[in-house]
Amino acid sequence: MYQFLIVAILSYIIGSLFTIGNGNRKYSLEFAKGFLTLLLSGFYLHSGLSYLMASVGVLAAQSRPIFSKVNGYSAEAVSLGIIFYMSPIMGVVLALFFIVLKRVLKEYDQAVFASCLTIPIMAFRTFRSDSFIIISSIIFASLTIQFWPPFLERRIKSVVLYNMAIGLGVLGFLILLYFNKYVYKGFGVQKDIIRHGPHHFKYVALTFDDGPDSVYTPEILDILKERDVRATFFLIGKNVSRYPEIAQRMVMEGHSIGSHTHSHKSLIPLSAKSTYKEIKNAEVAIEEATGIRPTLFRPPRGVYSSYARDLLKEERYTLVLWDLSAVDWAELAPKKIVANVVNKVKPGSIILLHDSGDLITYRGGDRHSTVKALPEIIDKLRTQGYEFVTIDQMIFLSELMETEEYLHEDYLSPSPAY
Ligand code: NI
Repeated sequence: MYQFLIVAILSYIIGSLFTIGNGNRKYSLEFAKGFLTLLLSGFYLHSGLSYLMASVGVLAAQSRPIFSKVNGYSAEAVSLGIIFYMSPIMGVVLALFFIVLKRVLKEYDQAVFASCLTIPIMAFRTFRSDSFIIISSIIFASLTIQFWPPFLERRIKSVVLYNMAIGLGVLGFLILLYFNKYVYKGFGVQKDIIRHGPHHFKYVALTFDDGPDSVYTPEILDILKERDVRATFFLIGKNVSRYPEIAQRMVMEGHSIGSHTHSHKSLIPLSAKSTYKEIKNAEVAIEEATGIRPTLFRPPRGVYSSYARDLLKEERYTLVLWDLSAVDWAELAPKKIVANVVNKVKPGSIILLHDSGDLITYRGGDRHSTVKALPEIIDKLRTQGYEFVTIDQMIFLSELMETEEYLHEDYLSPSPAY
């Protein structure tokens, strides 16, 4: 993950360039900074997260550049450069919108503020990529705070306060994301939850979350078919209702399917009634499409309430988590995704990949890297002697091995020998 830090730091330096002893910066130069920073980060690391880090870096330099004593610059030109990189059409629309508003409102500040209100709407309409939606939100937040119009009173005049607000906002958001979605792996050993299979055989399970997707899922199914691999798909009820034929294809081609809730809501804040609905609606959607009532369940983000856990037990679901994340959610380059899996795999690994979904919604997201990485993952693991099983097969094996597992107590030993 250190590359992402490098991207952020370099972007911050780029954002601070050309300001030495000169507080009066050119609009086109600032625009170019935003655009070029993203372009460069794309060359270095083609990943959603790297664009996000680049944007944060270059924007942060706007409020506190390292080479200049002048603080509190306006960030609109840099932001426009970033937006222009993400979507030239959106950039042009935004610029035109600004020009019109400038004529109507006469005030520069008010025109920027009013046009930035359209950013989130445009972002959600234009982008499939989660990282670009987040970048747009950050730009929106920073411009809103900076150009908070006087008629709304209590304008944040203090630069320190401004920096703190932006800093805390971004930090809070990242921490939330980090813990809520990606890091949670659970604590201790829980018997009714599966994180991996027995370590005694060179079996691994490939699992795909958030689908079906109309573009990526069929591509993944083609690859699996070509290489004669069975995987497990954790499906979102709403996506199944949208693409029932893809869910049917999974079953027909011998893959296991499980439930990943109806609309990918975190189960923790949900009421008992909503939790029940999330589980039941998905069940109905999957059963309607495939004729199979799912018995495997993977909670969104790997988190669940104790109520949900009890309910799932009652409904005879098995909770399935994972012990190896390919981190493909970050839209990493394919070779990074391959390395993440191949370097960390061990016998019994349950490997987490995604065929759909993104950071914010249960649909969309660019999974083209995952598709590209998959053939190599399969080939490399096979070269290492691994075989692929579904989660159902893995559970069967686990049950067979249960006594053995207790005898060896290998999940308690720090470095089991294979
Ligand atoms: Ni998910």
